Amino acid sequence: MRLVFLGAPGVGKGTQADKAAIHYRIRKISTGDLLRDAVRNQSSLGREAKEHMDQGRLVPDSVVIGLVREKLADPSCANGFILDGFPRTIPQADALAKVLFEQNLRMDRVINFRVSREEIVRRLSGRRSCPKCQATYHLVFAPSKNGSLCERCGEALVQRSDDQREAIEMRLRVYEEQTAPLIDFYEKQRILLHLNGAEEVEAVFRNLLQSLAVPQTA
Ligand code: AP5
Repeated sequence: MRLVFLGAPGVGKGTQADKAAIHYRIRKISTGDLLRDAVRNQSSLGREAKEHMDQGRLVPDSVVIGLVREKLADPSCANGFILDGFPRTIPQADALAKVLFEQNLRMDRVINFRVSREEIVRRLSGRRSCPKCQATYHLVFAPSKNGSLCERCGEALVQRSDDQREAIEMRLRVYEEQTAPLIDFYEKQRILLHLNGAEEVEAVFRNLLQSLAVPQTA
């Protein structure tokens, strides 16, 4: 199964991608996680990405496309994968189509998660993440059983620098301008599914599995 999880920041793409990757035993590729790793490792790519990310802007297409191309070539993707947060621009979507075409593959589905702006702001401002294993929590909706420490690895949880009010506003603007056009792009290819992301995590996941179980008509 080859999937793209699309949607504004904070709609729950990462939360659902973690669950779906376990369920389908396929690889999750999150460009946000890959870029944050690069920032932590202070690689040259990380230094270039940091400034864009902190401000809530997109990292240049060439950088992100190179990262994803490398990951998709990994044997761990042979059974399928979930792209979480990629593509985010039309040039990225074109590049993805080219990579898949070269490997004689096609994308199965693109899931567009929908959540109101008010709820997005609530989710992002309460999010806490583990800088070591990337687990995600929410102060109210999904608190860690270990308080301020990660349940999985014990690391101290942090608030992402781009989850501050100003960066959230910028990310939402960037989403509308550069990523939302992908809805139409994939609708035309008849592989887009819309999903209500506003319900609680397990309900969204149940609906996701049900939607993916319905055979494609196109
Ligand atoms: P990235 O990390 O991809 O951020 P994002 O797309 O803005 O998405 P988020 O991670 O903020 O949200 P999410 O939808 O995954 O929600 P989550 O499950 O965490 O990218 C960060 C930055 O990297 C970008 O701004 C850009 O600079 C750069 N970048 C990344 N990809 C790029 C690309 N392709 N091109 C260029 N630049 C790129 O959930 C959010 C919170 O809500 C959590 O606290 C969670 O616990 C909670 N929650 C989740 N589901 C529910 C629910 N159903 N009910 C209640 N709470 C919930």
